[in-house]
Amino acid sequence: MKIVLLGAQGQVGHELSRTLLPLGPICALRRADADLGDLAALAKRVSDEKPDLIVNAAAWTAVDRAESDEATAHRVNADAVEVLARIARERGALLVHYSTDYVFDGSGSRPWRETDPTGPHSAYGRTKLAGEAAIAASGCQALVFRTSWVHGTHGGNFVRTMLRLAAERESLSVVADQIGAPTSAELIADVTALAVAAWRQGRIEPGLYHLAAAGETSWHGLATHAIERARRMGHTVRVDAGAIRAIGTSDYPTPARRPANSRLDCAKLSTALGLDLPDWTVHVDRTVDRLVQQ
Ligand SMILES: NC(=O)c1ccc[n+]([C@@H]2O[C@H](COP(=O)([O-])OP(=O)(O)OC[C@H]3O[C@@H](n4cnc5c(N)ncnc54)[C@H](OP(=O)(O)O)[C@@H]3O)[C@@H](O)[C@H]2O)c1
Repeated sequence: MKIVLLGAQGQVGHELSRTLLPLGPICALRRADADLGDLAALAKRVSDEKPDLIVNAAAWTAVDRAESDEATAHRVNADAVEVLARIARERGALLVHYSTDYVFDGSGSRPWRETDPTGPHSAYGRTKLAGEAAIAASGCQALVFRTSWVHGTHGGNFVRTMLRLAAERESLSVVADQIGAPTSAELIADVTALAVAAWRQGRIEPGLYHLAAAGETSWHGLATHAIERARRMGHTVRVDAGAIRAIGTSDYPTPARRPANSRLDCAKLSTALGLDLPDWTVHVDRTVDRLVQQ
């Protein structure tokens, strides 16, 4: 099975470079090798590899910057995805792609199911939803995983930022009224490999699946957990546990509006693959332990 991996230097792409190895030879492409903003060059580069599996871990993920440049974000998150889906259909290849909890409007407190109505409030969410729609319209075979609050040891993320700020500052203010499940790039890449293997054996239907760690917390809960873990691991932490202040979304205005309820119901994927997805704390601890050793 010849694999083309796009976004190989991102958080998830970096982990996929390892977990996809047992499935076949990988052509791992970075932005410098294949720019999703250049649709013609992208189509040629990917087609030339004659892939049986296309894994797209590349995306415009700068959520706030997308508000002021939705056209470019749309080209990367939707138009380029349409190109990949067309190649997959023409070749009879499988396309693996990632989407986001930001496709939902964030209302209510029940975890979102794959069948729930979408309603993104942000430009990023709209472009990611358009990417999903392009895949559905193409008629290609695809596994699309919506995930949330990604963290890992490769690349920038909230956990890394909190450990840096905890070492620099005596107090922190973190949003406590957005709820979701921090999900590690490692877990996403592990489950992706399991899902592709299952698809090859006809044990999982192509389609849209929610993929997140179990349990839930707020950004404040995640910051507090990660910082206390780092303190126990001997990392320099200036901030006292009591000095991590819980604030509301309205106290921390950002260009893009985030969903208050980012919970994803992962029962469809767990059932299909026979998974018992770990609580979010399991992989956050792994990320923190490795970050403090870097
Ligand atoms: N991060 C999250 O919290 C989160 C949450 C939900 C869903 N997701 C989704 O999960 C997937 C993986 O996210 P991630 O956290 O691994 O993202 P990431 O760390 O930001 O990685 C994205 C990768 O895409 C590359 N990229 C961006 N624009 C490109 C372009 N025009 N051409 C080629 N490559 C380009 C980036 O390259 P550079 O490094 O050169 O910029 C980077 O390597 C994405 O589909 C994302 O939408 C992420």
